[in-house]
Amino acid sequence: MAAPVLVLDHPLLQHHLGQLRAVQTEPPAFRALVAILSQALFVEATRDVRAVPAEVTTPLGTAPSCQVQERLAFVPVLRAGLGMAEALLDFWPKASVWHLGLYRDHDTLQPITYYNKLPPRVDADLALVLDPMLATGGSAMAAIDILKRHHVRRIKYLGLIAAPEGIRALQKAHPDVPLYLMAIDDHLNEHGYIVPGLGDAGDRQFAT
Ligand code: PRP
Ligand code: URA
Repeated sequence: MAAPVLVLDHPLLQHHLGQLRAVQTEPPAFRALVAILSQALFVEATRDVRAVPAEVTTPLGTAPSCQVQERLAFVPVLRAGLGMAEALLDFWPKASVWHLGLYRDHDTLQPITYYNKLPPRVDADLALVLDPMLATGGSAMAAIDILKRHHVRRIKYLGLIAAPEGIRALQKAHPDVPLYLMAIDDHLNEHGYIVPGLGDAGDRQFAT
């Protein structure tokens, strides 16, 4: 059985997702929305992270707290995953960041790997693959293939919008990887774009 697909359907997040999709949203606002939505996904995806009880001193006494024990790695798929990684680092600065450069060939839609900055020894307990768009699933599958070749054992995928085709392909190739998403859209068009989607997530973040 495949790992779960979780869609965060909270109304405040869905409000922001609507703004993100809107054609008139300019890159600065687009980046800010990517950041907010990514942090929400991060919180949900790390709900089961291992932590031990701790105590802190407040001005009025002691309060229960906890200490997270796991080492996290963020794996942004360049370039659209960069905005997600930045937002997650604001939230959890001590994570490692392993950059993977992949782009889709315009004609074949096959992912081409052009950059891999995984460390020689992978030392995280949990790796989070970050990419706003899961279309055919080719890029996500390739990113997870690379992580598994480097013996990364625990992997989760965080994305904003997915096509049903991409989810099916990813679950078939990597049934052990849970997906955390903001929306599952209707279909892919003949150019491999998610409909209704939001257009090109990289272009809209970086004004290209
Ligand atoms: C986009 C997106 C994913 C990929 C999804 O990147 O950020 O990486 O397409 O498509 P897939 O599921 O069909 O593989 P793109 O190739 O446009 O590169 P960019 O981020 O550099 O613009
Ligand atoms: N990549 C994007 O940025 N958008 C899509 O709809 C599909 C792939």
